[in-house]
Amino acid sequence: MISIADHEDPEAELATYHRVDAAAFGATRSSQQEAAKRPLIEPSRWFLATLDDEPCGGAGSFATELTLPGGATVPAAAVSDVGVLPTHRRRGVAAALMSRQLEVAAQEGDAVAVLHASDAGIYGRFGYGVATRWRQIRVDARRATFRADRPTAAGRTRLVTREEAARCCPTVHDAARQHTPGGLARSAAWWDVVLGDSGAYLGGDPEQLVLVHEDDDGSPDGYAIYRVHQEWSGGQAAHTLAVWELVGTSPAVELDLWATLVAHDLIDTVTGPIRVDHELRDVVVDARQVGVRWDQDLLWLRLLDVEAVLGARSAGSEDSVVVEVVDGFRPRTGGRFLLVGDGDQLRCARTEAPSELRLDIDDLGALTLGGGSARALARAGRIELGHRDAATRLDRLLGTDPMPWCWVRF
Ligand SMILES: CC(C)(COP(=O)(O)OP(=O)(O)OC[C@H]1O[C@@H](n2cnc3c(N)ncnc32)[C@H](O)[C@@H]1OP(=O)(O)O)[C@@H](O)C(=O)NCCC(=O)NCCS
Repeated sequence: MISIADHEDPEAELATYHRVDAAAFGATRSSQQEAAKRPLIEPSRWFLATLDDEPCGGAGSFATELTLPGGATVPAAAVSDVGVLPTHRRRGVAAALMSRQLEVAAQEGDAVAVLHASDAGIYGRFGYGVATRWRQIRVDARRATFRADRPTAAGRTRLVTREEAARCCPTVHDAARQHTPGGLARSAAWWDVVLGDSGAYLGGDPEQLVLVHEDDDGSPDGYAIYRVHQEWSGGQAAHTLAVWELVGTSPAVELDLWATLVAHDLIDTVTGPIRVDHELRDVVVDARQVGVRWDQDLLWLRLLDVEAVLGARSAGSEDSVVVEVVDGFRPRTGGRFLLVGDGDQLRCARTEAPSELRLDIDDLGALTLGGGSARALARAGRIELGHRDAATRLDRLLGTDPMPWCWVRF
């Protein structure tokens, strides 16, 4: 029988959880790594599963905020570390964990759950859809040149110490994520990990450098966290500069940061993550010098309260559509909803009106931040149309420009 521990002794459960979760990923976790991670964890958000009294799986989440199109934010559970021991798989343990986790997240007031998937085949059945994508690029730093007419920002870039970075980066991050659909809040404890040197979790690489962009008044408005991997080929430097995270409060600031990194001496290649429709390729003379290493799903989004989320976001058009949302995993989240946009704000309420379009909750999650296409899903047979232009209206209502983007990894 599967049971989920009731947090009677959260610290003991956490210790077991760490061991089980690491083994699920085929790894071990040192006490130093556990200690680095501990400040991030709210025990009530972490769940340990047992099968026939044997601890065998876990799932956790961090409390955060997700930015919607238009700039409103909703409370979100950032789901992480879902794992089941290889000896206990395919017996329903992950499904039981997902069910409990979503229940508790909804009780705690989270309107959505979000995650990064290590395997894209797992989470659709639990109601998650791909809401943002990301692109890893590879820039040929010796060949790429920037157009003379590219936007540039007033101010300057400078390398800062970790201590300065800890003062500058969170402010920039917070300003940028609040106007970026898909943006996530990052807690102080997470910043300690990202800019620390534990090397224990996401970020925290002691070799990382931080470049900050400041405006004319000296206020930080962008940063890049990166490191250089040295390689000497036949006595010649052929280094790679790997960007971990690059964030600016405007496109011009981001382009200045990219340009500074691409101009770095001794570097052959610059790699890093960008929004799929980022302007970088449009501001170099030869766009082929900005190659795509991969382009794939990034933030998966699971709606827990359809009205609260869709009703808080902006609308791309003056339109309306009635959608029937099918939620096979958490049926009470689904239902029929009337979406009305006035070209500015979207309103969303349950309705008895006839449905014009029927879709699963994971597909609605994929459309929620404006990064998906209802018309494409309809062509793929995933959306059932009751009215011939319903998918077009839904796309117009939910569409955003630029594309949603999430640079926070958790
Ligand atoms: C992925 C993982 C958590 C699944 O755990 P599990 O207990 O075996 O999953 P369940 O038995 O509850 O399976 C639930 C459903 O998901 C399906 N499923 C599970 N893992 C899957 C996978 N990797 N790919 C596709 N489908 C998967 C099952 O077939 C089952 O489908 P059904 O509802 O149609 O019967 C587990 O295999 C694991 O820990 N893998 C390694 C770590 C990992 O990848 N974690 C995900 C981190 S984002």
